[in-house]
Amino acid sequence: MAKKQKTKRKTMADTADKFDCYQQSVQAPDHEVEMFDQFYKEQFDRTPVTLREDFCGTFAVCCEWVKLDDKRQAWGIDLCPETLDWGRNNNLSPLKAVQAERVQVLEQDVRDGNTPTVDVLAAQNFSFWIFRTRAEVIEYFRKAHANLNDDGIMVMDMMGGRECYNDTITDKRTIVKGKRGFKYHWQQAYFNPVTADCSFYIHFKFGDGSKMKKAFEYHWRFWTVPEVREMLAEAGFSSSIVYVEQEDENGEDSGDWVPVEEAPNNESWLCYIVGVK
Ligand SMILES: C[S@@+](CC[C@H](N)C(=O)[O-])C[C@H]1O[C@@H](n2cnc3c(N)ncnc32)[C@H](O)[C@@H]1O
Repeated sequence: MAKKQKTKRKTMADTADKFDCYQQSVQAPDHEVEMFDQFYKEQFDRTPVTLREDFCGTFAVCCEWVKLDDKRQAWGIDLCPETLDWGRNNNLSPLKAVQAERVQVLEQDVRDGNTPTVDVLAAQNFSFWIFRTRAEVIEYFRKAHANLNDDGIMVMDMMGGRECYNDTITDKRTIVKGKRGFKYHWQQAYFNPVTADCSFYIHFKFGDGSKMKKAFEYHWRFWTVPEVREMLAEAGFSSSIVYVEQEDENGEDSGDWVPVEEAPNNESWLCYIVGVK
């Protein structure tokens, strides 16, 4: 008689949805849109209407954008069909039909045009760091510049600080508490001081102890704020503005992002760079 096969019970990591875990851990589309509105209003004294989200992934920001005003339109651009499909099924489908029809998604390289010019072009989560040479970044910034209206801004987030170059650090955060919950691990895995090449991994650890290792991996060049501002100028942007979050009287984040030309030399920090067309 054939031996009865023992079926292995699936772990939480086996059944988890990596894009769902990513969105819960990393993204705050409402915050991003609030920031884009603030940056745009401070330049042009009106609310922006059109958005192009380069490297959009699951285009959560596009979906948030169109929810806030019935005139708003958004275009999301990404190369990865699997990621875009997840966005269609999970971020686009819950929208009302009148909202969803104002989101267009294009599976293509961000350096391709194919969209009308827009008020705000966003490239979030350090995504343009995929371009490792000045020539590649400037080429991308030139294309981004051409994709903007005359009253247009490009918004990118940046990270930095000496702790970010430490390739022994893994930042761990609990996203959902308890046995059914999970933790987010951001591993700073590699940094080469000669080339500024760097690697980062996102792992998820679940309440049953199981792990989804390298759910996402990034192999980038670690660009600095002054380099990016110089490349924006070379690509034709008339100015660039750096926004950092102010600290309150207890040294905590205040939620208030202001333009600066000097910032505290913190161990790690985030900022936005806004390129003005
Ligand atoms: C770090 S993820 C960022 C996703 C999203 N913007 C966010 O904030 O979470 C980078 C994304 O860029 C896409 N990507 C990489 N190179 C690209 C390129 N040349 N053109 C279009 N998309 C690209 C990847 O498929 C991936 O979805």
